[in-house]
Amino acid sequence: MYVPKRVVTNDDLAQTLDTSDEWIRSRTGIARRHIAGEHESSAQMAIEAAQAALQVADANPREISLIVVGTTTPDYVFPSTACQVQNALGAVHAGAFDLSAACSGFVYALSTAHQAIASGEHDLVLVIGVDTLSRRLNWQDRGTCVLFGDGAGAVLLRAAEGPSGVLATVLGADGSGGDVLIIPASGCARSLTPEALAENLHTIHMNGQEVYRFATRVLASATEQVVKKAGLTMDEVDVIVPHQANLRIVETAAKRLKMPMERFVTNLDEYGNTSAGSIPIALCEAIAQGRIKPGSNIVMVGFGAGLTW
Ligand code: ACO
Repeated sequence: MYVPKRVVTNDDLAQTLDTSDEWIRSRTGIARRHIAGEHESSAQMAIEAAQAALQVADANPREISLIVVGTTTPDYVFPSTACQVQNALGAVHAGAFDLSAACSGFVYALSTAHQAIASGEHDLVLVIGVDTLSRRLNWQDRGTCVLFGDGAGAVLLRAAEGPSGVLATVLGADGSGGDVLIIPASGCARSLTPEALAENLHTIHMNGQEVYRFATRVLASATEQVVKKAGLTMDEVDVIVPHQANLRIVETAAKRLKMPMERFVTNLDEYGNTSAGSIPIALCEAIAQGRIKPGSNIVMVGFGAGLTW
């Protein structure tokens, strides 16, 4: 994993915004977030996380045959972030592409990589979740800017005989909720004109309450679905690594699932919502803390714009 060095606290935000540490903490569980500096970007963070993953796995970048990067904040429209990673690592035998599923980007990329290996086409696949949403925030909008941070996480998947690895995946989408969480301008539909810039249409526009309702529903239902598909019961799940959007969303889903909060990994206080980076960052920390060990049954569950889960 990689997060920017610069830390912005709730009190820092309260200096320029009509908000408070108390409001942000009690409504979201967030205390700090790491925000990219001038020389940090999605590609740079993805490369740092990928290099760390290669080191942990003791793998050679020349063995990687596919790189999938879940991101909606690429450095450029093209070349893709994945191609920048491929070049920086010297992964000369790898194909590389970005995948756009907002905060669900990592789980979508992980599912794609799993299928690529299961098909027999690929042996070693690099999966990265990364976002630099700080560059897509309206820092005057207290309803959105307090929620997000920047960061990246990476995993390597290697072909092996089961029963370990990815047991089951469930992907879902509901495009009818596209306007609930949207960056209206800077794509082909609406160019980045001076008018669009003045109206902050290149930043995140969100209906927070709608997203909240959607998130609590799918977090619980997608978890139940995937556990069933894997042939397990909820009691056999050791750890759930949810997308880190809001502590209250996780608490509500935990109640619906009748699972104690101790089984959920949360690190919102330190990072806020790092979008596609959030699940792999939480995964890394949980492994480092000894909460996830070989043989653990874990569920990773994301949700985000699209809507996707
Ligand atoms: N500080 C102080 N007051 C605030 C702040 C703030 N940072 N933000 C909003 N308020 C105010 C509002 O203006 C409103 O004031 P009013 O009553 O005078 O109009 C009041 O607080 C209540 O606002 P609500 O929007 O009703 O607050 P709510 O309790 O719903 O919490 C929140 C808002 C935290 C955004 C919540 O709705 C939420 O977490 N939603 C989900 C958001 C999310 O997870 N988004 C990311 C999804 S993942 C992805 O793909 C990017």
